[in-house]
Amino acid sequence: MTARLLVLASGTGSLLQAVLDSPLARYVVAVGSDNPEAGALERAAEVGIEAFCVIPSEFPSRRHWDQALQRAIGAYAPTLVISAGFMRILGPELVQEYRNRIINTHPALLPAFPGAHAVPDALRYGVKVTGCTVHFVDEGVDTGTIIAQEALAIEPNETEEHLHERIKVVERAMLVDVVTSLIGEQP
Ligand code: GRF
Repeated sequence: MTARLLVLASGTGSLLQAVLDSPLARYVVAVGSDNPEAGALERAAEVGIEAFCVIPSEFPSRRHWDQALQRAIGAYAPTLVISAGFMRILGPELVQEYRNRIINTHPALLPAFPGAHAVPDALRYGVKVTGCTVHFVDEGVDTGTIIAQEALAIEPNETEEHLHERIKVVERAMLVDVVTSLIGEQP
C-alpha cells in the first residue's frame, strides 16, 4: 500500500520542512494544525500540499474538538500520522483508530521530561545529557512505545534556545529516518 503521510504541527514547522525536503515529501497528503498562525501551514501552502486547521476555541468542548480533528484527519485516509511539534494531546478515540500509526517526536530522552516544556525542564533539573525521542502515541502524555532516541551532551551555561535548536537538528534527521523505515519499500 502506498504510504499516505499526514503531518500535524503547531509551530514553525521546521520538522515538517525536514520531511518535505526529504524523499518522503511525495507521500505527504496533508498538514494539520491547531494554530492558524502556524508556520507549518505556510510551508504546506508553499509546496501546494493541502492543509487544515482545527482551532480549539471554535469548539464548545475538548471532545468536540477531538472529534473534529479526527474527522479532518480521516478525510485524508492517512496510513501514518506524524505529530511533528503538535502541542496538544490527541483524543483517545483518535489514538484508538490509528493505534501504532501515530508517531510523535519529543525533545527529550523519554521517559524523562515528558510534556510541553521538556527542554527547560531538562535544563532546570541540571541533567548533563538530554536528547530526543520518536515514539508511538498512546493515550498518555509522551508515554507510547519508543522507536528511536538520540542523546546530546548539554553544554556549560547553554541557553534553552540554543539547546532546543541543537536538539531539533537531530530530531529532523531522526524523524525522516524513522518514517522512512516505518513505511518501508514504496512503489
Ligand atoms: C520540536 O522540538 C518538537 O519535538 C517539539 O516542538 C518542536 C517543533 O519544532 N514538540 P518546529 O515547529 O518543527 O520547528
